[in-house]
Amino acid sequence: MQRENRPAIITEDTGVKYYCACGNSGNWPYCDGSHAGSSFSPFKVEIEKSGNVAICGCGKSAKLPFCDGTHNTLQ
Ligand code: FES
Repeated sequence: MQRENRPAIITEDTGVKYYCACGNSGNWPYCDGSHAGSSFSPFKVEIEKSGNVAICGCGKSAKLPFCDGTHNTLQ
């Protein structure tokens, strides 16, 4: 999946997930270690209930790693 200026809607099972924070993961929205050597660290999130989640692709959400709709205001 490619990072874009819109959310990735994915179905998650419960458990700890590591979402990409640097934007360079080849396995986006998940971390693949591409942040190594940078100031970024992956977002560690515990999913407590299985179901759909919206992961921010624009990088502008105030609730990273989740989408908050900010992408709708971008030009
Ligand atoms: S993709 Fe929705 S706020 Fe970034």
